[in-house]
Amino acid sequence: MDDPDCDAEALRRTYGAFVVVNRLVAGWRAVYVRRLRPLLSSSRTTTLLDIGSGGGDVPRALAGWAARDGLRLDITAIDPDPRAIEFATALPPVPGVRFRALRSGDLVAEGARFDVVTSNHLLHHLDPDALAGLLADSAALALRLVVHDDIARSRLAYAGYWALTLPLTRVGRPHAPFVRDDGLVSIRRSFTPTELAAVLPTGWRVETAPFRVLAVREVGTGTRTGGGDRA
Ligand SMILES: C[S@@+](CC[C@H](N)C(=O)[O-])C[C@H]1O[C@@H](n2cnc3c(N)ncnc32)[C@H](O)[C@@H]1O
Repeated sequence: MDDPDCDAEALRRTYGAFVVVNRLVAGWRAVYVRRLRPLLSSSRTTTLLDIGSGGGDVPRALAGWAARDGLRLDITAIDPDPRAIEFATALPPVPGVRFRALRSGDLVAEGARFDVVTSNHLLHHLDPDALAGLLADSAALALRLVVHDDIARSRLAYAGYWALTLPLTRVGRPHAPFVRDDGLVSIRRSFTPTELAAVLPTGWRVETAPFRVLAVREVGTGTRTGGGDRA
């Protein structure tokens, strides 16, 4: 799906399928409840940057949970892939979520800062230099907390995802190669907690959750800007 010339309809259906996959396996509700919600306030707006937002379902879910809890959360979701931004902005807008076609480094160059920086399923996607760049960017952008949440590589995760996505192998599922095959490749490329700990610079730590590995960085408190064009 990273191929700029890949089938557009299959890619759109893949972004749609990520809503289901992320709800089933990504564990963001637990991250929201345990790590993000305690930072939010009903009287002061907290800013959050989601890096590599793809179809945008994780930032949408975070905004929905915060709104239901009566907490003020302002989310900027970025992805350099214009097809991801096109998909995300074609959906009904969610108050408090804006999408921008940017890389994390662009925001560092802008001098933007956010209370919280997140990503989902991004770490395994990056080569070592890009991963080091992402970690440096997110450390520079975050005033309070960074949570990069990703799949943890394990035989059980691979077997479970293989079984979960088996129905996609039926004919007439043009997004099957992206959701199933790319997903299985992603699990093979993902980190174990030990491997992730070995590549994280000082100031970061690894946390785990079922089938998940998280790179977490806690920063002091400060004031935040956020910003960008609302979509
Ligand atoms: C595997 S997708 C994950 C999409 C989404 N977070 C999800 O969980 O469905 C990774 C995305 O990260 C984007 N990406 C890669 N490097 C990035 C960077 N430095 N800044 C922002 N986005 C980046 C890619 O364009 C791609 O859409």
